[in-house]
This record gives sequence, structure tokens and C-alpha cells, in this order.
Amino acid sequence: MKILVTGGLGFIGSHTVVELQNEGFEVVIIDNCSNSSKDVLKGITSITGKQPIFEEFDLREKGEVQEFFKRHQDIEGIIHFAASKAVGESVEKPLLYYENNISTLVYLLQELQKKKDSSFIFSSSCTVYGQADELPITETAPVKAAESPYGNTKQMGEEIIRDTCKVKPNLKAIALRYFNPIGAHPTAEIGELPIGVPQNLVPFITQTAIGLREQLSVFGDDYPTNDGTAVRDYIHVVDLAKAHVVALQRLLENKNKSNYEVFNVGTGTGSSVLEIIHSFEKVSNQRLNYKIVGRREGDITAAYADTTKANQELGWKAKSSLDEALASAWKWEQKVRS
Ligand code: UD1
Repeated sequence: MKILVTGGLGFIGSHTVVELQNEGFEVVIIDNCSNSSKDVLKGITSITGKQPIFEEFDLREKGEVQEFFKRHQDIEGIIHFAASKAVGESVEKPLLYYENNISTLVYLLQELQKKKDSSFIFSSSCTVYGQADELPITETAPVKAAESPYGNTKQMGEEIIRDTCKVKPNLKAIALRYFNPIGAHPTAEIGELPIGVPQNLVPFITQTAIGLREQLSVFGDDYPTNDGTAVRDYIHVVDLAKAHVVALQRLLENKNKSNYEVFNVGTGTGSSVLEIIHSFEKVSNQRLNYKIVGRREGDITAAYADTTKANQELGWKAKSSLDEALASAWKWEQKVRS
């Protein structure tokens, strides 16, 4: 069965391609390589023994999207990762984010609604909850006003899919709201490749440990948490990738309860920044150079998932520990720089 993975050379996309191929799916990747490298194909192939089909183009080219679906009429499911994801950049360049993240989604859905039957998985984010009033966060928690154009594209993306599903019963969709993906494939053949200075915590930690960055800044130790640093739900990217496969299978096997569903994908456990640093120090067997600085603008205090819905309805649960996830991130960083 042929599955399209947009952004399949990216961090979460490439891990999902591996899990799809391991489950016997035939994968077609579309990627414009704006934030990824064609070398990722080699990593995927060396893990799975199979080279996915790869088409390099930009989903903003509507004509190319239409031609693609004419060439691949046998595609039965789509996992849509391709999007821009840097919060700060989205504030500077809102129209780029709306074009990249919204127009591409519309073009894909326009093609899907022509098909007799289609299954669509959308990369959403726990950012839609903002600072939730209650923890852990369930899927019924209210969506809060977005803090950035990036966050807004995730909220709008969900609404666009929901509205389309209402009038197109042949379209089945699931939005997965990711918490904080970290780590790399245990083989260290694929992993996260941030361009420039990493904005996210774990790549900044591993780059500091390897000597690329001098010091990690911990953004704030005056939050109302146990140790004063902010709390997030860090999930191993391989667990997250597997959640996509089971979500897709749910749609392909018509096990969904309605044709638009939303699931949180996290571990259910919150960890503070200092806990992440200490866990990293343990698995890497070295001290990390860090200092406490002021809070980062726009950061929330704490977010972690209630995963009951995903556990019960998808039959999925995150398996890796925090230590395992951080050890895999460290193994990957060492391999990339060797
Ligand atoms: C960030 C985005 C979020 C996006 C997600 C995608 C912001 C404000 N939020 O989430 O919208 O969906 O990435 O991956 O950018 N930290 C440090 N020092 C650092 C980096 C991070 O202390 O150098 C802290 C942060 O303050 C935060 C935690 O580490 O408390 C995690 O940060 P990060 O990895 O950037 O993820 P989020 O902010 O949760």
C-alpha cells in the first residue's frame, strides 16, 4: 500500500518513513530540502534495506502537486509533515509561514477530496493549548489564542481539516498534537539536523556537550515548578513515529469514530529543564556547561499530556525512557560530528 509522506526527509518525517517501511508500507516522499538533506535517504535505506521513492519539489507549487497526484493515483494515505516550525522566524516572516504551512495544506486537501477515499494525518502541536489551565492536558482542553504565526498555522490547519471533513465524508483525518520530540534512531543513521543555532533544548545540549556551543542558557529558574525551571513532556521520536503508523492504520481500517479526530502524543510525564540536563549528564557521563538566565519570551510554565485517549483508542503508548531518548540524541550528535 502506497503512502505519501510530505517532509519525509525531516526529523520526525524520516523516523516515520522508517516505521512505515518496517510495517510493509511503500513510501513516497515529497520534500523540498529547505531544512533537510538528501543524505537522509541513505540513512533510511540503511536501516530498512529499502529506498523510498523520493520526489523533490515545493508543495507551494500547486501545479506540481496536481501533477504528482496524477502520477501516483494509487496513494491511499498521506502523512503531512512538510511545514516551517521556527517560532521566532514566524514572528519575523508571518506571510512565509502562512504560505508554507497553510497554502500547501489547502492544495493537498483539494487533491484528496477528489479521491474516492483518503486517509490524512496532520502534524499538529501541543502549542495549540498555550498554557493550559489544567495538567495533564487532555484533548478537550480549550485551544488558546496563538502566541505566534507558527502556532496559529497549527490551529488554522486543524480548523481547515475539520471544516473539510465535515463536508467530505470520504476524507478521514487525524491531527496528532505532538509534545516535545527528542532523540534519534537507535542506529544513529538518522536524527535531528538543526540548521544554525538550535532553538530547541536537546539539540542545544548535545551541541554544547560536543563543543560546538560554549554554554547552554537555561531560560528561567523562577517558574512555579519543583526546581523553578519550565516543564515539558519529552517524547522519543521513534515512539512518536510509531504513533503515526497506528493512527494511519486506524483510518485505513476504518476504526475511527468520526472522520476527524485529534490525539495528544506525549509520554504523560513532565520533566524540568534541570531534570533534562541531569539525565543527559548521567547518560553521557560528563558535566554540561550551563548557566541560568532570564525567561525566554513566549515560554509557558508547564505542559504535559494526558495520553489516555491515545493509549485506549490508538492502542499506542510511548515506551522509551527519558534516559534512552537522551542517550540516542547523544549517540547521534557524536556520529554526525565524527
Ligand atoms: C518550542 C516552541 C513550540 C514548538 C516546539 C517545536 C517556543 C516558545 N515554543 O517548544 O511552539 O511547537 O518548540 O519543537 O519556541 N530551553 C532552555 N534553553 C535553550 C532552549 C530551551 O532553557 O537553549 C528551555 C525552554 O525555555 C523550555 C524547554 O527548554 O522550557 C524546551 O524548549 P524547546 O525545546 O524550545 O521547546 P518548547 O519551547 O516547549
